[in-house]
Amino acid sequence: TMRNELNRMVAEETDPAAKKILQAEMESFFLLFNRFLIERAKGEKLDWDKINPPNPKQVRAYKQLKDVDASILNKLAVLKLNGGLGTTMGCVGPKSIIEVREGMTFLDLSVRQIEHLNSEYNVNVPFILMNSFNTADDTARIIQKYQNHNINILTFNQSRYPRVDKESLLPCPKHASDDKANWYPPGHGDIFDALTNCGLLDQLIESGKEYIFISNVDNLGAVVDLNILQTMIDSQAEYVMEVTDKTKADIKGGTIIDYEGKPRLLEVAQVPKDHLDEFCSTRKFKIFNTNNIWVNLRAIKRIMDEDALSLEIIVNNKVTDSGQAVIQLETAIGAAIKHFDSAIGINVPRSRFLPVKSCSDLLLIKSKLYNLEHGVLTMDKSREFGGTPVVKLGDHFKKVANFEKRFKSIPYISELDHLTVSGDVWFGKGVRLAGTCIIVANEGSKIMIPDNANLEGKLITGNLSI
Ligand code: UTP
Repeated sequence: TMRNELNRMVAEETDPAAKKILQAEMESFFLLFNRFLIERAKGEKLDWDKINPPNPKQVRAYKQLKDVDASILNKLAVLKLNGGLGTTMGCVGPKSIIEVREGMTFLDLSVRQIEHLNSEYNVNVPFILMNSFNTADDTARIIQKYQNHNINILTFNQSRYPRVDKESLLPCPKHASDDKANWYPPGHGDIFDALTNCGLLDQLIESGKEYIFISNVDNLGAVVDLNILQTMIDSQAEYVMEVTDKTKADIKGGTIIDYEGKPRLLEVAQVPKDHLDEFCSTRKFKIFNTNNIWVNLRAIKRIMDEDALSLEIIVNNKVTDSGQAVIQLETAIGAAIKHFDSAIGINVPRSRFLPVKSCSDLLLIKSKLYNLEHGVLTMDKSREFGGTPVVKLGDHFKKVANFEKRFKSIPYISELDHLTVSGDVWFGKGVRLAGTCIIVANEGSKIMIPDNANLEGKLITGNLSI
């Protein structure tokens, strides 16, 4: 059975330090796996009739506060979720090492942000990276260059769980040292276990830290914000989820709901099929989770001490390279909102949500649409009220390496509304795109946009040259 297999792997381990970690990981994995079996049998679902939009106390407006005393920053630690790979964008290694601007990666820019914060307010906010076994080595190598910088970078690894064979429900790895492909990082909800198990939670509390600001490493809009921290302190919220107004393009994100008087996260996977349209519409559920999360460290400690954490399980079905159907049991940090006292959402400006999930997103943040200062990207004044252009680059641009080859330089897009590119398309230097531009190279044809081309409201198809 599962239990025996896990025990055997732990027993085999001879290195005492490694054994201790493995034991803790297999213990919490087993709890998760058991919960999965029970929930699968019960088919536990949220009762749709009890789901209400959050009230104004549960999700508050973002406020620009006057005269916030910056010394509250001495109680803050900043953490970036850095367990993910850049696979979907065709990269090997951590996603955070994709180059964004001026030779700087997500990681470099995040470091700049904290360095600037620390020098501006004369504080010492530590910068923490939660890595996974997939990203730890590369990250360690890369952050070496910050050794002599005036910034305290701390790292720890999230748990490593065994993938499970879908048929037999047995673990895929047979030994602790088995190939990486048999294991997985169990989602960012794992942060509570990982932070506790490695001892860093206690360390932070002992050194006087009270709050932790957590965000996705690919979200350069997740800058430390004194207004939010002060609101958290004033409202004595143990957990703050930054949410932002949903547009038609944001159907995927989870939303805060009121469930029996308490705020909870509702994810698309929990929604019954016949309510999907309702969930996706922007009428009833107006906001979504940015995954910028502020948490009280002592509250984490309390909940962990009580063994009370029980995050909704996300079952991630995968097929391995050898064709084996496997499952990964994962959890999300947003789901933890239900465990904390007086948790709130704060409805923040869209500028705090700047995720890069594809090369289309990358084009936006690489362009002059955003100005870069101290690692912070701010939308250029000329565009401020126009929102971001809708960019859809086709499969030829899916991998970062191809994206970079196909743009001799990043086009000027400050007056662009919509861009669709499909097929074998190449952009010259200094191209300007404005209005709605659609460029489609049909199968077997190739479109080269010449240097300095000025395209405004253009439809280009087939082999047509301009
Ligand atoms: P993803 O980019 O994989 O998630 O991770 P997503 O589906 O777009 O968005 P979510 O999960 O709904 O937020 C988001 C962040 O979480 C980290 C990734 O490195 C990225 O910064 N992550 C993800 C971990 O640190 N560990 C994990 O196990 C999964």
